[in-house]
Amino acid sequence: MPDFPSAKPAADLTEAEAAEELTWLADTMAAYDIAYYQDDAPKVSDAEYDVLKRRNAEIEAVFPDLVRENSPSLKIGAAASAQFSPVEHGVPMLSLDNAFSDEEAVEFEARVRRFLRLDDSPIAYTAEPKIDGLSASIRYENGRLVRGATRGDGRVGEDVTANLRTLSDIPERLAGSGWPEVIEIRGEVYLEHEGFKAAGQKTYANPRNAAAGSLRQLDPKISAQRPLRFFAYAWGLVSSPFAQTQWEALEALKAWGFQTNPQSRRVEGADGLLDAYREMEGLRPRLGFDIDGVVYKVDRLDWQQRLGFVSRSPRWAIARKFPAEQARTILNAIDLQVGRTGAVTPVARLAPVTVGGVVVENATLHNGDEIARKDVRIGDTVIVQRAGDVIPQVVGPVLEERPESAEPYVFPDTCPCPLKTPLARETTASGAETVVRRCTGELACPFQRIEHLKHFVSRRAFDIEGLGEKQLQAFFDKGWVKEPADIFRLAKDEAKLDELRAAEGYGETSVTNLKAGIDAKRAIPLDRFIYGLGVRHIGETTSLALARHFETVESFLAAARAAAAQRAGDGHEVFAQLDGVGPTALEAILGWAAAPHEVLVPEGASFDTRLKASIPKLNKTAREALERRFEEWTSFERAAAAAAAQRPGEDFGELAAVDGVGPVAARMIAEFFGEDHNEATVENLLAELQVQPAERPKTDTAVAGKTIVFTGALEKMTRDEAKAQAEALGAKVSGSVSKKTNLVVAGPGAGSKLKTATDLGIEVISEDDWLELVGQG
Ligand code: IVH
Repeated sequence: MPDFPSAKPAADLTEAEAAEELTWLADTMAAYDIAYYQDDAPKVSDAEYDVLKRRNAEIEAVFPDLVRENSPSLKIGAAASAQFSPVEHGVPMLSLDNAFSDEEAVEFEARVRRFLRLDDSPIAYTAEPKIDGLSASIRYENGRLVRGATRGDGRVGEDVTANLRTLSDIPERLAGSGWPEVIEIRGEVYLEHEGFKAAGQKTYANPRNAAAGSLRQLDPKISAQRPLRFFAYAWGLVSSPFAQTQWEALEALKAWGFQTNPQSRRVEGADGLLDAYREMEGLRPRLGFDIDGVVYKVDRLDWQQRLGFVSRSPRWAIARKFPAEQARTILNAIDLQVGRTGAVTPVARLAPVTVGGVVVENATLHNGDEIARKDVRIGDTVIVQRAGDVIPQVVGPVLEERPESAEPYVFPDTCPCPLKTPLARETTASGAETVVRRCTGELACPFQRIEHLKHFVSRRAFDIEGLGEKQLQAFFDKGWVKEPADIFRLAKDEAKLDELRAAEGYGETSVTNLKAGIDAKRAIPLDRFIYGLGVRHIGETTSLALARHFETVESFLAAARAAAAQRAGDGHEVFAQLDGVGPTALEAILGWAAAPHEVLVPEGASFDTRLKASIPKLNKTAREALERRFEEWTSFERAAAAAAAQRPGEDFGELAAVDGVGPVAARMIAEFFGEDHNEATVENLLAELQVQPAERPKTDTAVAGKTIVFTGALEKMTRDEAKAQAEALGAKVSGSVSKKTNLVVAGPGAGSKLKTATDLGIEVISEDDWLELVGQG
């Protein structure tokens, strides 16, 4: 798994990289969700979270096949805490999509217009401050407050009725008239800056956390002591319509006794949206409470209805977010962090500073090249930013503040682990040097070992309940768990379990649960087993492809071992990894080296002339790369002969040819199984396990094995439904049309994909035909 998502544009990722990054994103965001929703102690700012969410969406757009069931794009919030009783919302509480620039706001406007097929007459919107608090839903029946709940996961929230009742902004009885018999009023609970200073500042990082923490107190008296406030801006379930526009609805909410935001505006067209944002930006410092953007909503409710929702957010609204914030602080030290795959990342240790509401003490410096390029030095005052990357980042030094003693940073040439392995720059498969420096100690490096173990027990791998990172680290530190098999041995080791029972913080129940959690995973599907090994570049998708292809662990291991025995030798890799030498050039060189033939060249001919005469297929780039690398003709000849002798064997080729695997993943597997200690780890583990075959995709349906593209609007189901349905029937769903596509389902508004399909002569059917085909017509 990447230590941080790479900086590569989503479109440049390989499928394996994309799958890995999506896994990382899902896991990371799930952890952030828990910190935010359940612990009221966010680990990252909204802006930063949004960057992750967006990255996730970008990758999913390029690799629609990889959209995970637990994708953050399909989730709203996190499950409600068990401390409060659950309340099912009458209508789910959804969230909003974000826009980060004027262009995106204009695009939103255009999208609405396109969707509604409107001419040029301006559309009205409301522009409301996006209050940075926590949303709540309050149910009124016959004008009386009956229940109040937090958002929770959007479907089920927490019952905080007693706490909400203590807010003076929340009426016990609705005022005026005209309210529906049943209505869920929705809005934001927040703290003003004054209130935050008076109550909360000591305990919480920012007003939003303080509001959340205060509302989610088990003792409503504590809530009552905090000056919580409430703005109403929306509604959920209603027994009868009560307005025709959002603006009218806000007026009604006000008339019934709620506070509505006085800065809300009714504007027209894209220009109106942009003006409102500028205005709100200017008002922001004087509002007295935190806002993190502006919410645009289509004013007409009948249009809202028509626009509907895409998965978790309405098409009729968007949040235009304010940009990330920056702050200055001192760079105290630069530490190196070693990830599971040995990638070494420099981390800035900072004098604590609040950026965008969260205290930052660590920030990424990305890699050695970045440090050099920015010339960041220990002791520098640096600018820290909390957006545009996954974790806070150091933008650069403030040169005027540089102490005289500050020396340029020298990237260590050895790993901080006890092995002190030399840190070399990594090269990609095509031979390009990358910015990543890696510890090659693998499982002998304790940093990598513990990261491997964490990966092994993680949710997508063995998912061992009761064995979190903390416990794992403790067992690792005790020397109890050094490799995955030790986890299973631990569950049988009564002496150790007794020691645990006696240990502080443990007890009979948790030890029983831990043992049960481990034993439950002694039977494991092959794909999880493979993924759990933590081989570089072998993400969930590749693991599943391997598991489906090989079916049993025995045949997978046989293939992996055969490939390991026949993987390319170093002599081959010299060429395979040379920048400028692509697959065609490589084949030409190897072909020539296997059967060299004399060519006539003038005496004293240059390297290039000889090369051109001997292997005419080589282009200029390849010839130049070879000359740079070998200089002398004789050294080239020798190296090429060695490469030809060391080219990978057929068994390697077979592994690489498995659908969904490819040469890079195959090389990683071959390298992994080529190491004796990895083999031993696998053997030890297998002694504890029963590996089961992966679930096979359906093969007996009309669409099994076919690659399908949905394009245009679907009218009877959502995209997600369509995709899920197709996949359940054994089809693959892709986002783009290519020669590999078997079927295109086109709805109204289909554009370039439909055209490509027609050009390629691919079968195109309608949504109704599709439903017919899958037996749902
Ligand atoms: S409307 C279907 N209006 O922003 C969407 N939300 O990311 C309903 N928020 O969960 C939300 N001010 O907590 C809406 N004027 C406003 C808002 C607002 C703040 C929050 C709310 C929501 C989140 C969406």
